[in-house]
Amino acid sequence: MPFHNLLVEDRGAIRLVTLNRPDKLNALNRETLQELHAAFEEIANDDTVRVVVLTGAGSKAFVAGADIAEMNGLSPIQARDFSRLGQQLMRRIELLGKPVIAMVNGFALGGGLELAMCCHLRIAAESAKLGQPEVGLGLIPGFGGTQRLLRLVGRGPALELCLLGQPIDAARAAALNLVARVVPAAELAAETFAMAEKLADAAPQALRGVLDALLVGGETSLEAGLDYETQAFALAFSTDDMKEGTSAFLSRRKPTFTGS
Ligand code: COA
Repeated sequence: MPFHNLLVEDRGAIRLVTLNRPDKLNALNRETLQELHAAFEEIANDDTVRVVVLTGAGSKAFVAGADIAEMNGLSPIQARDFSRLGQQLMRRIELLGKPVIAMVNGFALGGGLELAMCCHLRIAAESAKLGQPEVGLGLIPGFGGTQRLLRLVGRGPALELCLLGQPIDAARAAALNLVARVVPAAELAAETFAMAEKLADAAPQALRGVLDALLVGGETSLEAGLDYETQAFALAFSTDDMKEGTSAFLSRRKPTFTGS
């Protein structure tokens, strides 16, 4: 399906989704949120896609936030719907069942950081700036930022970022475990795709099991989470890929995972 604000490209089993409103620093308006919903629905239903890389067009921004011009005219009811639209999209991405890497090539502010945080891995350029600056607009994060930031970095840094609204650089973001890796801007794409290739070669159902156990099982009690893990572990034994992975190890060869 053609998109106005997204570029979609396949590189083998890796789908690259690029937010493409560089003149507005890839700000998330309703149309873009809806297009992302559709793009991730397609990805969920396409077994040939094993990994997703999400990034922003241009060298300046990943995403500079929700679209402020659009928010300026919203009623409270419309704002609630806008928040829900963003939250549902981000939950959709988080529960995709396939790894999604945010390639953070510049500003990841407000909704941009929220979008990066619902991805499973974040790689940032050294020049990237990340933050939740909503208080400066008289707002609070509305696409899950308060909740995901809390879970990713803990209460102290989450409060600091959301209360002060001051963006942090990529090095500080790495120190807070907000990004997995920081690389020079010129190496960002190569590093990201090297990581994506590794994931594309892995057993898809094993990756899904890890994502489920951590993202769903991990939000319950320890007892329920452990039980969830056992179910996911047992399920892996129903796959050909588990037999392939263990057999390949025992015969000292490289496994080939088919996804079955
Ligand atoms: N929503 C809508 N438009 C945005 C936007 C956003 N979140 N962020 C940037 N833009 C637009 C600007 O209005 C400008 O459009 P124009 O050229 O039509 O006037 C264009 O993108 C370029 O932005 P500009 O501010 O001129 O770039 P800059 O290099 O001077 O500053 C930022 C970059 C990121 C510091 C600045 O754009 C900014 O603070 N953006 C808002 C960040 C924010 O508060 N996000 C949270 C939103 S909830």
